[in-house]
Amino acid sequence: MALLEVNDLNVQFATPDGVVTAVNGVSFALDRGQTLGIVGESGSGKSQAVLAVMGLLAGNGSASGTALFDGQDLLSLPAPAMNKIRGNRVAMIFQDPMTSLNPYLTVERQMTEVLELHKGLTYSQARAHSVQALDAVKIPEAAKRISRYPHEFSGGMRQRVMIAMALLCEPDVLIADEPTTALDVTVQAQIIALLRDLQRDHGTAIVMITHDLGVVAGLCDDVLVLYGGRVMEQGSAEAIFYQPTHPYTVGLLGAVPRLEQGDHALVAIPGAPPNMARLPPGCPFSERCTLVEPRCWNTRPALLPLADHPTVLRACHKSALEVSRYAQELKL
Ligand SMILES: Nc1ncnc2c1ncn2[C@@H]1O[C@H](COP(=O)(O)OP(=O)(O)OP(=O)(O)O)[C@@H](O)[C@H]1O
Ligand SMILES: [Mg+2]
Repeated sequence: MALLEVNDLNVQFATPDGVVTAVNGVSFALDRGQTLGIVGESGSGKSQAVLAVMGLLAGNGSASGTALFDGQDLLSLPAPAMNKIRGNRVAMIFQDPMTSLNPYLTVERQMTEVLELHKGLTYSQARAHSVQALDAVKIPEAAKRISRYPHEFSGGMRQRVMIAMALLCEPDVLIADEPTTALDVTVQAQIIALLRDLQRDHGTAIVMITHDLGVVAGLCDDVLVLYGGRVMEQGSAEAIFYQPTHPYTVGLLGAVPRLEQGDHALVAIPGAPPNMARLPPGCPFSERCTLVEPRCWNTRPALLPLADHPTVLRACHKSALEVSRYAQELKL
């Protein structure tokens, strides 16, 4: 059995406009030491999918489905049991560092508390371990800086503090929600290298949410492409990168600048992400899809395995061959 197995995850929010389904029928499995990338444009449901797994949805949100971790369903776990797992065996790096750092407490207090609570360390053991963790994410003068407040760190440093905190208990699963978006490129590369080391040394499984398809290529084993809260395509990173079979994936790849292909013109996906409260009855991507045909508007394509590559799942009425030809025309 996989370390984390999410089945038919649905996330709904009650809003004044009615119920918004932010995540619809998402399933994935993650083994020890593996990395799953979740990609998709803003609003596609990436953060809400993982927040649901962590039991951290907003008050108007609710989740259904199952998220089995080590034989326990995280979605139905009582709060005290979830508190033992969260931050300890399953940890998260949040999209906004200030969500997980308490502005009123020093970094030292926040880090040592986690270790005292989950690992039963004494204060001085916890402090020594925390300084080590800050050192590991390359915070200069960690022993001194640990007594500062979060706002006394720069944005990039704060992100590192958060990563150090997430890794403090050496979690089995690390969920990283756009961990490098706010950082400059060199720091991004260092953080990715850090995550890779962690994975090698501890066998940590990583769920990596990112806009950056370069990060996916460099780090992920599997990829899940989300649009309008639904999976458009899912499979090994290699298959998805080299033989995308969904027009949305082709669109995402077409919008990425690549050095090695001089004749690949950048193509932005026309239009904007959909209004989640008013999704079309057919394929959510139909409004923006270059290959759209009448049935796409009205009938939602099911997520089905590719005939000659059954580990790849795709939700598209067009044949994989037609989509591949289209990708070739774009010189992807
Ligand atoms: N508390 C809430 N009430 C109502 N709708 C919400 C709530 N939280 C999120 N949503 C909606 O859920 C959808 C998915 O949001 P989510 O945060 O998962 O997007 P995302 O893919 O992480 O985007 P980004 O890349 O911008 O972070 C959005 O349409 C958002 O408006
Ligand atoms: Mg998000």
